[in-house]
Amino acid sequence: MADRKKHILGVENLSKSFGHVRAIENVSVDFYAGEITAIVGDNGAGKSTLIKMLSGAERPDRGKICINKVEHNFFTPSEAIENGIATVYQDLGLVNCMDISSNIFLGLEPLRKGIFVDKARMKRESRELIEKLRIGISDMDLLAGNLSGGQRQALAIGRAIKQGGRILILDEPTAAMGVKETQQVIELLLNLKTQGYTIIIITHNMQQVFSLSDRVVVMRQGRVAGDLSTGESSHNEVVGLITGMEGVS
Ligand SMILES: Nc1ncnc2c1ncn2[C@@H]1O[C@H](COP(=O)(O)OP(=O)(O)O)[C@@H](O)[C@H]1O
Ligand SMILES: [Mg+2]
Repeated sequence: MADRKKHILGVENLSKSFGHVRAIENVSVDFYAGEITAIVGDNGAGKSTLIKMLSGAERPDRGKICINKVEHNFFTPSEAIENGIATVYQDLGLVNCMDISSNIFLGLEPLRKGIFVDKARMKRESRELIEKLRIGISDMDLLAGNLSGGQRQALAIGRAIKQGGRILILDEPTAAMGVKETQQVIELLLNLKTQGYTIIIITHNMQQVFSLSDRVVVMRQGRVAGDLSTGESSHNEVVGLITGMEGVS
């Protein structure tokens, strides 16, 4: 079964320092279509630095990023998007005073006759997208500022997909959300997984790691301390790898 997985993205020996701080060191990880990978690790382990290099926000010092069988030394943010890598920033990405379809199309508004924003088309396509993703928003005229936390996250994910994202990166997508909203986001991610999207999620929530992800990559002090199939590993094992105290319970 494992060898039938479709490799979609790989990082190879990626390293990045900030001054004297080695944020990540020789990190190699592969990602597969239709798989949810959780990245876990203590504060400062290098999780955000790793995903910033995938999204083009930071440039690695060494190493390679391989996508669709092409090797890159680094990505600019627009190259990341062109290659289908979309990072979902929960709150930075949405404009509260704009409606649903304007948020989904932000920066990509279709034009009529080359000058008029085609609002009708934006609404139609937004509704189609929202139905496809089974996000529970029916009114495209609602303002983003009036949505619940779960709906905002879903909208941000919808926009990432509209931009062409096939690999979605989410840094703590359910932080500060209630149980019901968290469940909505989890259902959306599971739905996207069945549609073949590749999902990379940073989370501190161990229950989420086990209920949601297929694989868990543990980072510790800038290195990959473990790369496990979630179904074949235990909570204690993962916590041991995070803290570096394997076998201690
Ligand atoms: N822009 C930066 N400037 C200086 N140090 C940084 C910067 N970004 C991250 N670091 C350092 O790199 C290490 C890894 O950080 P980070 O990737 O944010 O870890 P995590 O997301 O796992 O908490 C930490 O020691 C952090 O202080
Ligand atoms: Mg971080």
